[in-house]
Amino acid sequence: MKKAYMNIVSHEKIARNIYEMTLQGELVSLMNHPGQFVHIRVGDSLDPILRRPISIAKINKEEQTFTIVYRAEGKGTLLLSQKKIGDLVDVLGPLGNGFSINTVPTGEKALIVGGGIGVPPLLELSKQLNAVGIETIHVLGFQSKEDVFYEQQFLSLGDTYIATVDGSYGTEGFVTNVLNDNPFSFHTVFSCGPTVMLKVIEEKYSTNYPVFLSLEERMGCGIGACFACVCHRKDDPTGFTYRKVCTDGPVFPAGEVLI
Ligand code: FES
Repeated sequence: MKKAYMNIVSHEKIARNIYEMTLQGELVSLMNHPGQFVHIRVGDSLDPILRRPISIAKINKEEQTFTIVYRAEGKGTLLLSQKKIGDLVDVLGPLGNGFSINTVPTGEKALIVGGGIGVPPLLELSKQLNAVGIETIHVLGFQSKEDVFYEQQFLSLGDTYIATVDGSYGTEGFVTNVLNDNPFSFHTVFSCGPTVMLKVIEEKYSTNYPVFLSLEERMGCGIGACFACVCHRKDDPTGFTYRKVCTDGPVFPAGEVLI
């Protein structure tokens, strides 16, 4: 992990309140694992509260760039959305433990399930899995057609199914509607998104498949300082031991922590 000022090389709105920002700099040389995140100072003030943990959506080593996708909805991310190409951004990272692609044997398939702002880190995951010969199936859930992003990028990597809650695009309902309607065959499940979705994925698949869940929605400070992200371990009936999502995760094997 290092801190650096990185140059914005692109920044655009890609869906309702959703922005994609690409940053360039040497820090990219440390970014290797899909599912890791960065801690970004979103404004120009020195107020440390104005850092936000944001997952890494794409890594491009040749161009020394990485991409983040965020929802502009609070004070911090609205400040971030005002930044322009050429501006410098204070980035701390990479942070956390990401998805391990070695858990899927070569030639097997992975099922990737994402919801809303949990979708971005799954793109780099899918890219890295495909690069080592693992086919990927993507099931992505959004509220509405206006919220859908990265469909083409996922399609370029494997079969991709979209669900929208209001039925305005793809399958009406939730990712589970797609999963229940399609008898996919796969070896391992990777998922990132709202806690309620992760719970359903854990219940549905963890008995028969390896399942890895990214709990990034549970993060606050992102650096182990605030305890907002603490999860109890499933194997500790006393409830006295815990795991921090930001430093022990955000990716955990299903069954390790109570979600
Ligand atoms: Fe603050 Fe983990 S997010 S301790």
